[in-house]
Amino acid sequence: MRIDVLSLFPEIFSGYLGQSLLKRALDRGLVDVRLHNIRDWAEGPHRSVDDRPYGGGPGMVLMVKPVVEAVEAVQAQAQPAGHVVLLTPRGRRLDQALVESLAAQPRLLLVCGRYEGFDERVSLLLAPQEISIGDYVLNGGEVAAMVIIDAVVRLLPGVLGDERSSRDDSFSGEGRLLECEQYTRPREFRGLRVPEVLLSGDHQAIARWRQERRQQRTRQAQTPSTQPITPSLKGSAP
Ligand code: ADE
Repeated sequence: MRIDVLSLFPEIFSGYLGQSLLKRALDRGLVDVRLHNIRDWAEGPHRSVDDRPYGGGPGMVLMVKPVVEAVEAVQAQAQPAGHVVLLTPRGRRLDQALVESLAAQPRLLLVCGRYEGFDERVSLLLAPQEISIGDYVLNGGEVAAMVIIDAVVRLLPGVLGDERSSRDDSFSGEGRLLECEQYTRPREFRGLRVPEVLLSGDHQAIARWRQERRQQRTRQAQTPSTQPITPSLKGSAP
């Protein structure tokens, strides 16, 4: 997959892309991320990319010309044309189903806004998919674009060592249930014991227990409650 990111602050991405799973995926050629500075398509002595809103009001608006011309120029750099995504708080809320549909695209173009948002003609001309990562306002779309890259790249074939690990993620698969709790050594820590069934070696019983826990945790997460979602571990093993 190729991901083109258009931003006024492309440097924000370099630390994140240089680490861990993302770096490995880039090094192995499983994903190709290209960063572009929208300002490169700005004109005039000050290379302005924003201006005051017509009709008055606070803040600045991203100008239509540099954004649209940047997207068109970046689209022309490679085949196939990328699926254009505009990061904006008014967009469709990101969830795992949307992440899966983005991961199925051969190429994405993520366009990050700043200031009070884009000139409306950006949406009219580019007909992008508008995506929000939640009902709050960020200073720009860069963090939202990183969230999308992170969630998408881990679904690409070969990125996770073990294909099961993304299939078993929370919100994935049938029913989109949350993940169940996990334990590793030691068997007991400060009086908290690993549930007996996980030590039993009975794979059917373990699978049944895990499925029940996933269902319970999902139900509990959907009902606001002050109860802890992890059952008491005291005395659950011999
Ligand atoms: N830009 C500003 N706020 C945003 C949000 N919540 N999601 C996506 N892009 C944004």
